Amino acid sequence: MTDRLANARARLERVGQGHVLRHASRLNKAQQDRLLSQVEAIDWHQVTRLVEAYVSNKPRFAMPRKLEPAEFYPAQPPANLAGKYVDARALGERLIREGKVAAFTVAGGQGTRLGWEGPKGIYPATPLRRLSLFGCFAEYLRKVHSKYGRRCPWYIMTSPANDAATRQYFQENDHLGLDPADVVFFPQAMMPAFDMASGRVLLESPDSLALSPDGHGGSLKALHRSGALEDMRRRGIEQISYIQVDNPIVKVIDPLFVGLHALDRCQMSSKMVPKAYPKERLGNFCMVDGRVTVIEYSDLPDELAEQRIRGGPRDGQLRFQAGSIAVHVIRVDFVEAINASGDFALPYHRAEKKVPYWDFDRDAPVDPPQPNAVKLETFVFDALPLCERSIILETDRVEEFAPIKNADGVDSPATSRALQIERAARWLESRGVRVPRNAEGEPDAVLEIRPLTAIEPDDLDPASLPKTIARGSEVLI
Ligand code: UTP
Repeated sequence: MTDRLANARARLERVGQGHVLRHASRLNKAQQDRLLSQVEAIDWHQVTRLVEAYVSNKPRFAMPRKLEPAEFYPAQPPANLAGKYVDARALGERLIREGKVAAFTVAGGQGTRLGWEGPKGIYPATPLRRLSLFGCFAEYLRKVHSKYGRRCPWYIMTSPANDAATRQYFQENDHLGLDPADVVFFPQAMMPAFDMASGRVLLESPDSLALSPDGHGGSLKALHRSGALEDMRRRGIEQISYIQVDNPIVKVIDPLFVGLHALDRCQMSSKMVPKAYPKERLGNFCMVDGRVTVIEYSDLPDELAEQRIRGGPRDGQLRFQAGSIAVHVIRVDFVEAINASGDFALPYHRAEKKVPYWDFDRDAPVDPPQPNAVKLETFVFDALPLCERSIILETDRVEEFAPIKNADGVDSPATSRALQIERAARWLESRGVRVPRNAEGEPDAVLEIRPLTAIEPDDLDPASLPKTIARGSEVLI
């Protein structure tokens, strides 16, 4: 331990982070071991570069000289594309049946805005059963299995902070009805938080750095480092259906999307919804130097955000209307290729946050009232400009975007619940069921459709549905 401590100390002193171990001799062996393990897992030369680039300096967004809106496949195919959509769906279904598609959920985030204790995937999301987010995805995959006769493996990226609790949840709940061999967990890497004024790494307690997950972009490295990519290769997986953990109605695997992406021989593709208003907090799909690039809502200049199309079939629509819903299909060999170079790195995004830390002068924890720290994360969509080919598919928000991000207000459990009920109502109405609606046009009943029953309206068998839903009733289909 003494050598280990001395080596680590020397390394930290060299990069101006000596404070991390300055009090380590007061710790017991187990505490020293914990702290040293964290220190040894960090590339301190990279840390020095990051402090210089992102903490001491605030990188300004470099607006590309030419920014064009990205083209997309419309949700409803125009006549000239109808045949292609049919072929694409057939191809997507064939890839699923041949066992070439895996589901991948990034679930390593801290979910601070929601304020839920424990992994977000355990959050009870559905209107009636209060089924968890993981439960929704598991039922979806069980339905995919029953429809296509093939089990799709499910990869779940956790973080060291929620890995054990996530695995325990699956264990205690019989892997949500899935074969445990088909559910693969792996943790992402962590990144220290930096004191905003000094650039020094913060400690949350005398024996631990203040660490947080390195962003969903970390998934592209974690897939490689964890051996998940090799596991995919062994199973013959070619395409990864990437989803976030917070959207209970996401199409965990969408044959049309997988098929369009595969037909067009893309490396990584995306889904979008038309933005509801110019500065909606969604990433904007743009073209920069011939590559699809996501520009964050805060970086898109107002004048571009407000521009409208004049004339033609899309008259009046926002020119930059494609908002990202963080759903992608990614080729396995693309993730392999970007990792093969050894120095693959996505750009970091800087966020100023309130990070509790340990004050060694007072020997006490501090809960800062104002943002005191810089956190750095990478975003998965920053891999899009690395793709030679990448398509975007439009989708209807009510059909597949009901995220649970905040405790109240927009993108909260309440808005998600309303969208889930609206989608269920539409699906039932499309199969001839009369659904009561109030004066505002909202369904006047609490409706929930199990993914095990239907993952698209056509899965609903009209013969087994009620003719009418009673006003104010609760109906689980
Ligand atoms: P968010 O951007 O909503 O972040 O993540 P978050 O950490 O979950 O929530 P807040 O900001 O603290 O409230 C979008 C998706 O990316 C995953 C999340 O689990 C979610 O599925 N994610 C985010 C990771 O897997 N790792 C990360 O480091 C960050």
